[in-house]
Amino acid sequence: MSLKHIAIIMDGNGRWAKKRHLPRLLGHRAGVKAVERTVRAAADFGIPYLSLYAFSTENWKRPQTEVKGLMSLFRYYINKKVLELVKEDVRLRFAGRIKELPKDIQEIIHEAENETEKGQRLQLIVCLNYGGRQEIVDAVQKLLKDGYKGEVTEETIRSHLYLPDLPDPDLIIRTSGEYRLSNFWLWEGSYSEFYFSSLLWPDFNKEALQEAILSYEKRDRRYGGIQR
Ligand code: FPP
Repeated sequence: MSLKHIAIIMDGNGRWAKKRHLPRLLGHRAGVKAVERTVRAAADFGIPYLSLYAFSTENWKRPQTEVKGLMSLFRYYINKKVLELVKEDVRLRFAGRIKELPKDIQEIIHEAENETEKGQRLQLIVCLNYGGRQEIVDAVQKLLKDGYKGEVTEETIRSHLYLPDLPDPDLIIRTSGEYRLSNFWLWEGSYSEFYFSSLLWPDFNKEALQEAILSYEKRDRRYGGIQR
């Protein structure tokens, strides 16, 4: 069964740190290592699109120190990894309300997108300040701003989403034993299969990704139709 796009809700960094009596931020730092492992693994498995829920529109409610620490991690990761990603033929893209992020991060994001633009092996989509409801609101606002007067169809909405050319996620993985969508890919995930892993995100690895893929391959996707 074709598997083009895997989306991951990376949950459990805080609990991973707590178990070790470490500050939450060290959990997020370990989470970055898991991101690196997972990107490599997805490329090895020939997955063309991988999207990661890194920061939601609701995450601003966390303590200031945690939000600041996460922003520094994004800065570090995006800045330091770009050359490596270019070498590995990975294209980095972002989805979310990017304009509400600190200015320097916006610049780093645009540079990273430009520098990795030719990457062919894997597209890595980092969802930053992303919310599914907000994405739909933003799409409708774009339509209104463009002065669109025609009939509003699914295709009109779709073509105004953050990344209109991105195929819908075939598989959404959530780690840490939680069973929620948390405002992720609301439009795009309408027919996605779900896989829940009990691992905390910093412990996620190639074997865990392979298990999720194998589970997906056994599913029978009917898209509202009947058995094929
Ligand atoms: C959820 O764990 C994780 C986040 C809100 C942040 C995800 C960020 C990273 C993995 C780091 C960097 C990512 C990139 C793409 C560079 P949680 O804090 O909600 O954990 P808890 O539920 O155990 O408290």
